[in-house]
Amino acid sequence: MTVPRPPEPIPGARLLFSLDPSVSHLNHGAFGAVPIPVQRAQQRLRDEMESNPLRFFTQGLVDRIAHARRHLATFLGADPDGTTLVSNVTTGAAVVLQSLALRPGDEVVTTDHGYGAVALSVARECARTGAVSRTLPVPLSATDEELVEIVRDGLRPGRTRLLIVDQLTSPTARLFPTSALVAVAREQGVPVLVDAAHAPGMLPTTVASVGADFWVGNLHKWAYAPRGTAALVVAERWRERIQPLVVSWEQDSGFPTRVEWQATRDYTGWLAAPVGLFTLRSLGLDRVRTHNAALAAYGQRVVGDALGVAPERLPEPGGPAVAMRLVPLPPGVATTLDAARELRARIADRIGAEVSVAGWNGRGYLRLCGQVYNTPEEYDRLAVRLPTLLAQG
Ligand SMILES: Cc1ncc(COP(=O)(O)O)c(C=O)c1O
Repeated sequence: MTVPRPPEPIPGARLLFSLDPSVSHLNHGAFGAVPIPVQRAQQRLRDEMESNPLRFFTQGLVDRIAHARRHLATFLGADPDGTTLVSNVTTGAAVVLQSLALRPGDEVVTTDHGYGAVALSVARECARTGAVSRTLPVPLSATDEELVEIVRDGLRPGRTRLLIVDQLTSPTARLFPTSALVAVAREQGVPVLVDAAHAPGMLPTTVASVGADFWVGNLHKWAYAPRGTAALVVAERWRERIQPLVVSWEQDSGFPTRVEWQATRDYTGWLAAPVGLFTLRSLGLDRVRTHNAALAAYGQRVVGDALGVAPERLPEPGGPAVAMRLVPLPPGVATTLDAARELRARIADRIGAEVSVAGWNGRGYLRLCGQVYNTPEEYDRLAVRLPTLLAQG
């Protein structure tokens, strides 16, 4: 079978980034990369802050944050009145968990495709409150229908106080049918938190169409915002119950301002985040999405071929817009956290490629992303050199 043609590059796109050109940056999904115009916009805001900190913090900052929030919510297809800015998805998930007032006997249900730090947050909140957590195993090969059935069977009405599902999973790069999952949970009266860390900027799905009780997504990954920018969207019936992790001066302002105002910190990233959306739009949102998904698919095929993985054994992402793809590593390679970290570092050192390596359910996987600054040759180079590196053990 022939490898699909890689997409045409988007002219000038690579020049928007300050990435080290001697490295193949194939893991945009981890920490993103901030385009230079966005970095500059944030620096101008920092200059303004440093020219008169008192004026910056006390005259109009709360309104400027609200303005940025409304702009970002509109882009996400979320209700601006139900949206609050937080630093990252990890924080947003913690805000939701601690606002639920869990009690002994309550349970939080997750799947084994969930993000590790969110699972740790669930574990701590359960330990603090006497609630318990339960993780539903979902095979990598499960169809959407099977996944929905697993979740339907896994909920215990009256006892399950929260279901957490990912819109696009981190260890397995799998698109979950989130609106169908929300619907089965709703039938059983179970609230749902959707971890949409990778959705903003990558997936065309609107937040409103997911219909979750709580949805949290990072703008600092695929929406080109400065790091520390995420949106937590809360259904109307929950808003008054949502409490910030840290109480500060806006506590009496209610949702969403009391969650956003976290005392003295650098808010310039949030104010500069709309420039990330402007950068995306000026490249062409659909063009960027199509390019990135096609490049990730190309990378998966060439690296998979090089490792002898038949195309039909390459995990399917579950949708055409997904710009992260998995390649299974040979059995026994990178199956533990330590081994995965060691292999990632070795690929960076010896091949000059930044990739994600993770063990999941006893198998090691490489996760490759596609982004406008990547070229097909970067995946080709990895494909040529990876088999030798793996053979060296
Ligand atoms: C599915 C998922 N959830 C949560 C996170 C955490 O994001 P952050 O570090 O911005 O909180 C990530 C990060 O990659 C992720 O992939």
